[in-house]
Amino acid sequence: MNAFEPITLNNGVRLKNRLVMAPMTTYSGNPDGTVSDEEIAYYKERSGGVSAVITAVAYVSEHGKGFLGQFSAHEDRYIDSLRRLAKTIQSGGAKAILQIFHAGRQSPANEVPEVVGATDITSDGQPTPRALTTEEVQQIVRDFHEATRRAIEAGFDGVEIHGANTYLLQQFFSGFTNKRTDVYGEDRMKFILEVVQAVQQAKEKYANDAFIVGYRFSPEEPEEDGITMDQTLELVDVLADQPLNYLHVSQMQFDSEPRRYSGKATTRVEALQETIAGRLPLIAVGSIYSKKDLENASHIGADLLAIGRELLIEPHWVEKIQRGEQVETALDTKNPPVLPTTMFEIIKSRPGWVPMK
Ligand SMILES: Cc1cc2nc3c(=O)[nH]c(=O)nc-3n(C[C@H](O)[C@H](O)[C@H](O)COP(=O)(O)O)c2cc1C
Repeated sequence: MNAFEPITLNNGVRLKNRLVMAPMTTYSGNPDGTVSDEEIAYYKERSGGVSAVITAVAYVSEHGKGFLGQFSAHEDRYIDSLRRLAKTIQSGGAKAILQIFHAGRQSPANEVPEVVGATDITSDGQPTPRALTTEEVQQIVRDFHEATRRAIEAGFDGVEIHGANTYLLQQFFSGFTNKRTDVYGEDRMKFILEVVQAVQQAKEKYANDAFIVGYRFSPEEPEEDGITMDQTLELVDVLADQPLNYLHVSQMQFDSEPRRYSGKATTRVEALQETIAGRLPLIAVGSIYSKKDLENASHIGADLLAIGRELLIEPHWVEKIQRGEQVETALDTKNPPVLPTTMFEIIKSRPGWVPMK
């Protein structure tokens, strides 16, 4: 794959290259849930080189908030704020894709009226969630539909359903966190497929085929009852036949290897591509910092690559790589690039997360 070659999605939308900005939470929205000026400046700086920006995740339900300073998509009063974000990204030349989720049991207790989850299984340092009733699950499906409508009204080019990183969609798919006895426990893919359908229905009703819908997932969990690579391949096999435009695997290292897997592929991306078999494009991600990393990642068999932390370090990374210029691969904390204040503080407080000078 040549990272600078365009790609046309199955809905006819052409992306100018194979590089997209990975979704990254900024912790820097306004206290009322709107997008802040600092976030606008941050996105403006990074929307020139990549073909699409997948935004920080926005929440779809009041009890689905996952972070301090997260911007919202859960009520119509946020449409103007979201429109500002979409316009900023598009004015740089990139497609604007709003990532949407419900945090489920990962919600901080002081950010939501009540912490809810698939089951009342707690996670480290978190309060015990209340298991959602069947009716509440169905309401969250409708919340995803409504958030998609808002993204469309706000002028976004698409949405990415965030089914990764241990948030609610993943909590329903995982045997570790889903011990339900209702229909959503009997079939752990049911919630995911209903959300995909609800998003698609919003697209059909309020947008046209050019609106992009992607799905992000995490390939494996470490817990005994958690998601295995084999289970993810079963899910991906079903997702590849859904009305989606791309799949996006969430990883920290682009060439990571499967752990609990019965097949022969050496990397997770290879295993995923064997199953997807060309039905949808796959975005891979994880630790692409240098030109050499990009060359190596170009050979793993993914259709697109997402760049996260390196775009924090080098906002014009794509343009610089294309021009053959040198790039920094560690964050200059003394002379930092444009970053929202709280995001910068949180990154500095967690050594090892983002490489720092
Ligand atoms: C500051 C920060 C915030 C993140 N927030 C999100 C998020 O909102 N949604 C998501 O799916 N992944 C999120 N991630 C994960 C990234 O999308 C990406 O998968 C990960 O950082 C590995 O890619 P990288 O090595 O290019 O950074 C975040 C990562 C970072 C560093």
